[in-house]
Amino acid sequence: MRVRIIGSAAGGGFPQWNCNCPVCAGAREGRATPRTQSSIVVRSGEDPWYLVNASPDLLRQLADLPTDRSAGMRSNPIAGVVLTDGEIDHTAGLLLLRESSAPLRVYSTVAVRDALTSEYPLLTMLERYCGVDWRPLEPGAATPLEGTTLSVETFPTGGDAPLYMGGGDKEGKAGPSAIGLTVRDSATDGTLVYVPAIEALDETVSARLAEGDTVLADGTFFRHDDLVALGLGERDSWAMGHAPLTGEGGTLEALAALDAEVALVHINNTNPMLLEDSAERVQAEGAGLVISEDGMEFEL
Ligand code: MLT
Ligand code: MN
Ligand code: ZN
Repeated sequence: MRVRIIGSAAGGGFPQWNCNCPVCAGAREGRATPRTQSSIVVRSGEDPWYLVNASPDLLRQLADLPTDRSAGMRSNPIAGVVLTDGEIDHTAGLLLLRESSAPLRVYSTVAVRDALTSEYPLLTMLERYCGVDWRPLEPGAATPLEGTTLSVETFPTGGDAPLYMGGGDKEGKAGPSAIGLTVRDSATDGTLVYVPAIEALDETVSARLAEGDTVLADGTFFRHDDLVALGLGERDSWAMGHAPLTGEGGTLEALAALDAEVALVHINNTNPMLLEDSAERVQAEGAGLVISEDGMEFEL
């Protein structure tokens, strides 16, 4: 299986358009590499690519994807999309695929499909354009990705409903929480574990992380109060469904102890480890973790 990180930043990208925090300012001064919003692609052998999450930067990301264009006037560089949640940064790119000449194949949980046909009706809208060929991701089952030797299993990783559904407020609607994916390639025996949102390292998540040959894990926040300390928000990392890397309940040590190649993804623009000359970067890399960048690939 080949895995390519096509977007390594969290929602907003890096630097974020309206942000003058020290990390975004550092990127504008050349002290960090800009990154697009969270998404990966996976394929087995020369089989078609599957997109995992569809970011608002999708068109730029697809332009950079190696693609066989010999199939005719219209050919899809991707065979379908797998969604790990219903968040805007992971789904807005679906609308950018509306020119598809075949119904867009979308794998998601029922809860994500419900969100995307009610409060944020992207799938309903796409029905009027290219059509949608929706496929369920059932808990406890392995779902084959059609046309490949890959299958995906899901596991719950917590987190509140998206903000457009109330974000877990008492008045808000029940909505989808995030899942992680275990992607297995029956041809190579390679296993990828992809978890862009980890609310807590509970037993389920820890057991799944231990299965991966390659693990792409939540690197959103370095400390729980990255945003609050900068005066950029009142919700800390916990309130946003992301365990921080360091401090109480932090994930860095457990990730570093895995017997796998581990790269941090979905990195928020305020995370100081993005700055190449930062102490936080030295700490994360010193622990053996890869701070992902757009275009990074893994073969497993
Ligand atoms: C998240 O990853 O927690 C969400 O994408 C945050 C958001 O953009 O609302
Ligand atoms: Mn996000
Ligand atoms: Zn920033």
